[in-house]
Amino acid sequence: MSGTIDSILVENRVFEPTADFIAQAAVPGMDAYRALYDEARDDPDGFWARMAREQLLWRKPFTRVLDESDAPFYRWFDDGELNVSENCLDVHLSNGNAEKTALIFEADDGTVQKVSFRQLHARVCRIANGLKSLGYKKGERVIIYLPMSIEAIACMQACARLGLIHSVVFGGFSTKSLHQRIVDVQASLVITADEQMRGGRAIPLKAAVDTALTEEGTDLVRHVLVYRRSGGQVTWHADRDIWLHDIEAGQADTCEPVAVGAEHPLFILYTSGSTGKPKGVQHSSGGYLLWAKLTSQWVFDAKPEDVFWCTADVGWVTGHTYITYGTMAAGLTQIVFEGVPSYPDSGRFWKMIERHKVSIFYTAPTAIRSLIKAASADPAVHPSNYDLSSLRLLGSVGEPINPEAWMWYHENVGGARCPVIDTWWQTETGGHILAPLPGATPLKPGSCTLPLPGISVDVVDESGQSLPDGRGGFLVITRPWPAMIRTVWGDADRYANSYFPPEMQGFYLAGDSAQRDSDGYYWIMGRTDDVLSVSGHRLGGTEIESTLVAHEQVAEAAIVGRPDPVSGEAIVAFIILKGDLPDETQAIAIAGQLRDWVAREVGPIAKPRDIWFGNALPKTRSGKIMRRLLKIVAQGEEVTQDTSTLENPDTLKQFRGAY
Ligand code: PRX
Repeated sequence: MSGTIDSILVENRVFEPTADFIAQAAVPGMDAYRALYDEARDDPDGFWARMAREQLLWRKPFTRVLDESDAPFYRWFDDGELNVSENCLDVHLSNGNAEKTALIFEADDGTVQKVSFRQLHARVCRIANGLKSLGYKKGERVIIYLPMSIEAIACMQACARLGLIHSVVFGGFSTKSLHQRIVDVQASLVITADEQMRGGRAIPLKAAVDTALTEEGTDLVRHVLVYRRSGGQVTWHADRDIWLHDIEAGQADTCEPVAVGAEHPLFILYTSGSTGKPKGVQHSSGGYLLWAKLTSQWVFDAKPEDVFWCTADVGWVTGHTYITYGTMAAGLTQIVFEGVPSYPDSGRFWKMIERHKVSIFYTAPTAIRSLIKAASADPAVHPSNYDLSSLRLLGSVGEPINPEAWMWYHENVGGARCPVIDTWWQTETGGHILAPLPGATPLKPGSCTLPLPGISVDVVDESGQSLPDGRGGFLVITRPWPAMIRTVWGDADRYANSYFPPEMQGFYLAGDSAQRDSDGYYWIMGRTDDVLSVSGHRLGGTEIESTLVAHEQVAEAAIVGRPDPVSGEAIVAFIILKGDLPDETQAIAIAGQLRDWVAREVGPIAKPRDIWFGNALPKTRSGKIMRRLLKIVAQGEEVTQDTSTLENPDTLKQFRGAY
């Protein structure tokens, strides 16, 4: 395979699981997959009850499985009680895993620290005892704004142990986003670090929290717990700030887990939707953990001796489900990485796989594409320079993986022996939905293949009618599943309207378009709303637009995505200034200011790549911005389509300069 990423590869080969892989797999062969799938379809209550009893430790057994009486507000196992942290940690103290390494932390500078399940359990208990001594009780909300660290995972688990509801905010989000989330969840505690280390640089976190807490609506915050990561300077507020190590000191290594109802919220995680501010996706304890653990076992074919590395940050759902919860409940040894794939050079991932003998590697297509690019520019960082023979399975998540990247990943990283498992899911689905089972499903590069057992999906038209194979349409999930979003925190109407619009006849609307081929395989085509996928991160176009419009010089703004070979999509902003159209020098200066503004207000990941200035945005006669046409302009192409429905067709020609 060549290393280029620009050419479009048509790959029609099908990759069957090898006999060796099938022989040892959790779900061996398509017959085993179909048997599970059919069991779940024919007797869903019986299937889910069996799974929940086999997989989870219940403090109080459930007697009901799915309660649909208040659809779409579904309840699962709702008279049962359990504790998530007990299921992730305590269970491993008595099943032979106690001395097994739970986490291998590799810092930005390459320093390594390992903890066993016993040590992690003790750490979580000490933090939980510390939180208890400060008076925190079940149901209170905790904002976690921490770098990738053992501490981040331990704090999430400590919250779960006490029934505190956490909301993790990704360290790359700005003060403003942090403030919004503190207010929206009505947090009483914030946990942060002095600084985070990424790519050799120290980035202040505590300072962002300090600023957020000077803003309105944050009075409920009683304490800020600070993990000392770098030893960098922080401003100290003695009335509310406490070092994490101080609350742990002198605490007991055990802490009784608080039994909570299966529907008790485990966490709230914010994600961008098609309109307005980010939505707080609320997840449950029982149903979520069940699916997180089951999919960890099925989809990654997890074995006790595996070393699992999910490169996501715990600030995203992937890090929640496949670092902190599902994979931990499954007892896997996991890598936790603080840094970035390009530091000190772009061989970092391969070097870490070699060093820690990683056997399952789970990353995003954008990372793969950037490493393909780096390896073709500098042969020294090509994966062939490293011993990657420990790998036996490769995963992909976050965006469609183009066949070219799939093949490169398969051949150059996986040595043509590891299945490439493309997993389609969302913050709202809690865990994998469409994904191959590595010992069963024949793989087609570019397809996330088939629904998992217990999951029922379809492709429908705008009135919810099923479409024939080969026709593109809306991807829907037609039956509730245990790990589904329960509601939008504080906004039940928004939950019902966004995910279960009336025309979809009770189906969950994913917001993606897809088609199914004649083998029943699903191919994801992209979002149907204005959500952008930038380097695997989901960002709302409207949120960036309203941020830009809030800038004193901006009259109107429109955001579109332009295809980018590495990041998937690049953000392009079309700006109408309050004053005259700027000349080139002015435009460069204003574009710089606007990019900084977005970085400050939303976060550096939301900065527009290109900014175009014009006199007016193209609108329909009813005043809708024609983003479809702007997308064409954003790619530097001439609009040849009929623009007669536009209120102001000439505007398209006026846009100047991409910066
Ligand atoms: O558009 C789909 C894309 O990412 C969206 C979900 O983003 P988020 O909630 O941030 O969760 C990302 C990690 C689970 C989806 O609506 N997406 C995710 N995985 C895939 C994908 N698109 C194609 N193929 C995938 N494997």
